[in-house]
Amino acid sequence: MHSLPPTAPTYDLDALRSHIPLLKSMVPMNNCSQAPQTTATRAAAEFYLETWNESGMDWDEWIDQVRRAKTEFAALIGASTDEIALFSSVSEATSALASALDFTGTRRKIVVSEAEFPTVGQVWLAQEKRGARVQWAAVRDGAVDPCEYDLHVDRETLLVSACHGYYLDGALQDLARLAAQAHTHDALLFVDAYQTLGAVPVDVKALGVDFLVSGNLKYLMGMPGVAFMYVRRELIERLHPTVTGWFGRVDPFAFKVNALDWSPNASRFDAGTPPIINLYVARAGLEIINEIGVSNIRAWHEVLAHRLISGGLERGLAVFGPTDVAHKTASTAFLVHDSAGVEVAMRAQGVIPSARGPVIRLAPHYYSTLDDVDTALDVLASVTRKR
Ligand SMILES: Cc1ncc(COP(=O)(O)O)c(C=O)c1O
Repeated sequence: MHSLPPTAPTYDLDALRSHIPLLKSMVPMNNCSQAPQTTATRAAAEFYLETWNESGMDWDEWIDQVRRAKTEFAALIGASTDEIALFSSVSEATSALASALDFTGTRRKIVVSEAEFPTVGQVWLAQEKRGARVQWAAVRDGAVDPCEYDLHVDRETLLVSACHGYYLDGALQDLARLAAQAHTHDALLFVDAYQTLGAVPVDVKALGVDFLVSGNLKYLMGMPGVAFMYVRRELIERLHPTVTGWFGRVDPFAFKVNALDWSPNASRFDAGTPPIINLYVARAGLEIINEIGVSNIRAWHEVLAHRLISGGLERGLAVFGPTDVAHKTASTAFLVHDSAGVEVAMRAQGVIPSARGPVIRLAPHYYSTLDDVDTALDVLASVTRKR
């Protein structure tokens, strides 16, 4: 006998919704782009402004936020705080890692998929000037089969670069398989997990990931200005990024202008003064997610994704990407004409979707209800019918 899917998550949905003021006026369905503000993330930003206003500078407390935010991020992915480096964007993190890689030997190939968020492919392409050779795992039928990587990964491969959840259609990649395959050839696995952290459980150790990057403004409930990179402990000592600065040193406050020592942990990738206010928000967003628990969130996302897909098909909408909820993120894409225009029209009717290229993405999160999903689908169907 099949049991019916749950109609509510395992956590207190109403209590969590009461901390998102935007829900009073809108149905946010754009977590694949920017999460809504919560009372906790707002309070965190205000706390920073208060300490700045009241004490002029509260440096020790501010720097402690760096550690706390890294610790929350590490807990989220099963890593240690000292394996986490801080950046302002995924682009910057990827560039810093690239600067630490050596492309002068025979092992100088980077294998990356055509479905990556463009910034990642672009950073790798920029390394061709330094000797790297980029090869592309092809997208077929809208997906990147891990077998596509098999065609390119060999003993000349330095790095395999993969996305955990694809930004356009929400498909999930099999990271454990890619890690095993990369390691068979002594290559390293770099993962862009921006579309999955906070939505899909990730354990970097169990998966065998070497590097993992993510920003905070999607399912981690943060804002722009902060990104993190996990660097597997065993790799740290041999990496010397040329994108660097005083926060990458053993003791930044030693102020030794003529010495370039390297922090023994992943903070060797840190560069300049951290984006403190953004870190307050990032830390508060991460705490929300870690407190609810990503497994609990994922279970509810699967219910919401099922409703999005079945409800979309019932309304005659064209799903773009996987329809099996086990193989996708919380984001479901629908093919439309003029996605930017559809987004504007939907916003005018109280639903915030995310337009990207040929699709409208509907990406609920832990606070979303089945009614939110139905409302979003009704509005999308009515807007597209009129166009
Ligand atoms: C999967 C993925 N990677 C990277 C980015 C962009 O990263 P950043 O703007 O922090 O460089 C995005 C979206 O903004 C994304 O969805």
